[in-house]
Amino acid sequence: MGKFEVLDHPLIQHKLTIIRNKDCGTREFRQVADEIATLMAYEVSRDMPLEDVEIETPMGKTVQKQLAGKKVVVVPILRAGLGMVDGILNLIPAAKVGHIGMYRDEKTLQPHEYFVKMPGDLENREMFIVDPMLATGGSAIMAVDALKKRGAKSIKFVCLVAAPEGVKALREAHPDIDIFAAALDDHLNGDGYIVPGLGDAGDRLFGTK
Ligand code: PRP
Ligand code: URA
Repeated sequence: MGKFEVLDHPLIQHKLTIIRNKDCGTREFRQVADEIATLMAYEVSRDMPLEDVEIETPMGKTVQKQLAGKKVVVVPILRAGLGMVDGILNLIPAAKVGHIGMYRDEKTLQPHEYFVKMPGDLENREMFIVDPMLATGGSAIMAVDALKKRGAKSIKFVCLVAAPEGVKALREAHPDIDIFAAALDDHLNGDGYIVPGLGDAGDRLFGTK
């Protein structure tokens, strides 16, 4: 079973409170969401494998550590996932970026996929799916389906706010993946929004509506 972890570092909690506030404008929301994503990338990459490498410092030869193994692909679920990409690339600048376009039907809450563009060789890559909101879990489940269908074997899902309903659904559908959230909130309302949440993440990031 993959793990579910709430990354509740004080800086993450503080910054999340800033963007939850309804008076936080688009510019600040974007900047702080990015900062949270950077802090989360630090925690999410904690189990990355290392290998020995011989280098020479000004004082002589030494064996030190460098990252080994699979190359990372950051996969934002459009639109709102875009708000976490730069934050993660701050720490993992060599990562590739794949995109999954998905929107949730406002009435049925069912996700619809409209775009997928991935780098090749997903079998040998570490995939970080990013989306600020894990609500019913429908979008996340479909995104993981899309990556597995294309060969991905190692997948982590990284969100800002998760609802218990979404965590349960995603773990049941894909027990092998790791899920990381900055907060686990209380519940979903009748319209499928996370409470207390932060509202519509895409609209708040891009200033729509
Ligand atoms: C939001 C959010 C997730 C999805 C979560 O996207 O960014 O992708 O809803 O809901 P779920 O867990 O119930 O599937 P939305 O469909 O609003 O699209 P947008 O990012 O383009 O605004
Ligand atoms: N999508 C959002 O943007 N916010 C929610 O609370 C739920 C789904």
